[in-house]
Amino acid sequence: MTETVADTVIEAPETDYDPFALESLQNVHEMDGRCRELAPVVYVKKYDYYAITRYAEIKKALRDPRTFSSTSRPFYAPSPFRPRILILEDPPEHNRSKGAVLKVLNEENLQRMEAYFKDWAEQLVDRLLADGPVEIDAFRELSVAFVLKVFPDVLGLPEEGREALLKFGDAVFNVFGPDSELQRQKLARGAEGQEWVEANTAKELQAEGSIGWMLYQQAEEGKITETEAQQILKSIFAAGFDTTTASIASMIRAFADNPGEWQKLRENPELVDNAWEEAIRYYPASRYGGRWAKKETVLGGVRIPEGAKILTMWLGAGRDGRQYENPDEFHVDREMKGGHLSFGFGIHTCAGQGVARLEARTLLRALVERVERIELVGEPVQAVNYQAFGHEKVPVRLTPARR
Ligand code: HEM
Repeated sequence: MTETVADTVIEAPETDYDPFALESLQNVHEMDGRCRELAPVVYVKKYDYYAITRYAEIKKALRDPRTFSSTSRPFYAPSPFRPRILILEDPPEHNRSKGAVLKVLNEENLQRMEAYFKDWAEQLVDRLLADGPVEIDAFRELSVAFVLKVFPDVLGLPEEGREALLKFGDAVFNVFGPDSELQRQKLARGAEGQEWVEANTAKELQAEGSIGWMLYQQAEEGKITETEAQQILKSIFAAGFDTTTASIASMIRAFADNPGEWQKLRENPELVDNAWEEAIRYYPASRYGGRWAKKETVLGGVRIPEGAKILTMWLGAGRDGRQYENPDEFHVDREMKGGHLSFGFGIHTCAGQGVARLEARTLLRALVERVERIELVGEPVQAVNYQAFGHEKVPVRLTPARR
């Protein structure tokens, strides 16, 4: 039922929680979790924005893009790292660009990618296990090695310089927060990748049949402009690499921390798809999104004034006990009624989730068939990032299964 301002409504409780302080960034689950328990909507005074903290209220807000617009947000400022399209658009403009990106990341193209991804995942895991048990950094040697091979290949990108995608992505996910030394460092590093990214989105460099070429084809047909085609391609570069490398490495950590779940998955490999959904509920690669309120509204009994800048805190919502039983536990056979919000929800739901799922599932399947045990052999290092959550190091020993 729609809440109205006439119902019993409270003002958003004010909090001095600083989601961007180093202490918060190093403990995002605990700290965003505490914020979630304060109220479904809180007012973060320091930065003058409202945070929607719980699963049900975030979902409700994302269902209503007329009230919760994407054209502005907290810390909104034009940035060379932030594509001006898709994520910052409302309908009707958004319909056009979303249609264009979904047309190239469609089922048919995903099916064409599948055999290639599978083959590469199997080759990579076989190579790692060639000499028996092996100690690796699962972020670099598994996740990055796989993701920076298969998807850029499909995009038709040159082998050389692909690390630029990670530097660029890291900057993209740090633009969305306050000015700080951390942000300045990330943006400086991102600038090193930016030139490569800009150059490789140019029309003349798109190999025939590649995703970029298909986008420019749509421009040739007059469905979008060439500038839009380039911006959409840049969105794919911006959103499509840090996210997947982070979430695959986090998934490996979840298994290393929960050896019983790895055994359960090995005994029930049909749970691979479910296990991956659980992994990104548990460790979402994206911590929050942004909106602004076009009119006064009420969410979870809390008033949000017209013009309010908003963060949708979906990482915390993934551990919301009102939605999930034992939310801090990782279970490959969890029945997730209503799904998770780790790919967002509503009209802006992730355009690349098909690619992300394909990458993660093919790699996970190759591992399940070949790896008996995954054990931590050192402390995992969590990445420090405003908007993205992930690990920059996950040292593990992989013990091959007898085949
Ligand atoms: C595990 C990996 C990924 C995660 C967790 C993730 C997460 C998200 C989330 C939460 C949103 C919604 C943002 C919002 O509503 O404000 C989003 C949007 C988007 N994602 Fe992803 N993403 C992933 C992978 C990818 C990949 C691989 C691509 C490209 C191939 C991609 C492209 C996009 C684009 C273009 C949007 C904007 C959609 C729109 O505004 O309509 N993402 N993603």
